[in-house]
Amino acid sequence: MRETPLKNALIMGASSGIGHAIAERLAADPGIETLVLCSRSAGSNVPLLSLQSQLVTAGKKCLLLDVDITDEVSLLGMTNQLRKDLQVIDLIVNTVGLLHSRDVSPEKALELISLPSMQQVFAVNAYGPILLAQALLPWLKARRPVVFASLSARVGSITDNRLGGWYSYRASKAAQNQFLKTLAIELARRNPEAIVLALHPGTTDTGLSRPFQANVTQEKLFTPAFVAEHLLQQITQATAEDTGSFIAWDGQRIVW
Ligand SMILES: NC(=O)c1ccc[n+]([C@@H]2O[C@H](COP(=O)([O-])OP(=O)(O)OC[C@H]3O[C@@H](n4cnc5c(N)ncnc54)[C@H](OP(=O)(O)O)[C@@H]3O)[C@@H](O)[C@H]2O)c1
Repeated sequence: MRETPLKNALIMGASSGIGHAIAERLAADPGIETLVLCSRSAGSNVPLLSLQSQLVTAGKKCLLLDVDITDEVSLLGMTNQLRKDLQVIDLIVNTVGLLHSRDVSPEKALELISLPSMQQVFAVNAYGPILLAQALLPWLKARRPVVFASLSARVGSITDNRLGGWYSYRASKAAQNQFLKTLAIELARRNPEAIVLALHPGTTDTGLSRPFQANVTQEKLFTPAFVAEHLLQQITQATAEDTGSFIAWDGQRIVW
């Protein structure tokens, strides 16, 4: 269980879905002093602008940064901005993920595999999280408690793969898991108080899951607020012994 309170947090992917719900939940936490809320469109996202004005009125600091985690120049811009504004970060949550878009659909069969689509999914789900960690290294290696939690998905578990399908999404989340485990091992040497977690949120009612909810029963389809509450519980309960773990919303350990 975390002993020092969470004061400064950065949420990547805060403009919708689970990231937005985590941002709202943290904004309501009286202990929070600074929230950095990022996505490709955070600076023009109306709900985030309203959250920012609430926080500023309450005497807290809230930065909205437009960042694309698949773009190293954009990430460098974020690092430079944060170096000016924030000495300490206690919590980083990456909630960015890609399952479908105009150009990407999860592949049910081998015939549907395409290189550009796989590259796009890997850029967001696998390379993005580790590039984000690299961009935040000054805060991750500072010898003090810090959590780097990134949303993965149970379907990224190789052992748990019984149904097949969704080649790129599954493989990119498995790759993310390996990046996170490797990061956890390096940070254990460089900052023993750092905790790296891969988190599974459960099926959540967001734009990402919406086209695939038909076979999900109501009690298995969570609201973003419910998931935010549970993931933050897992984050605050985690200790340095949990670093490098793959944990579900309810605390269950997931096999790699
Ligand atoms: N929903 C589920 O049922 C479910 C289940 C298992 C795992 N997950 C995982 O949980 C995470 C959150 O899912 P969600 O359902 O909340 O997704 P979502 O509603 O699609 O939200 C994704 C967020 O990421 C931002 N984003 C997308 N691409 C980005 C990029 N390149 N750089 C920076 N920000 C970017 C989006 O904002 P902008 O468009 O403004 O950038 C948005 O705020 C994902 O990793 C997903 O794989 C979700």
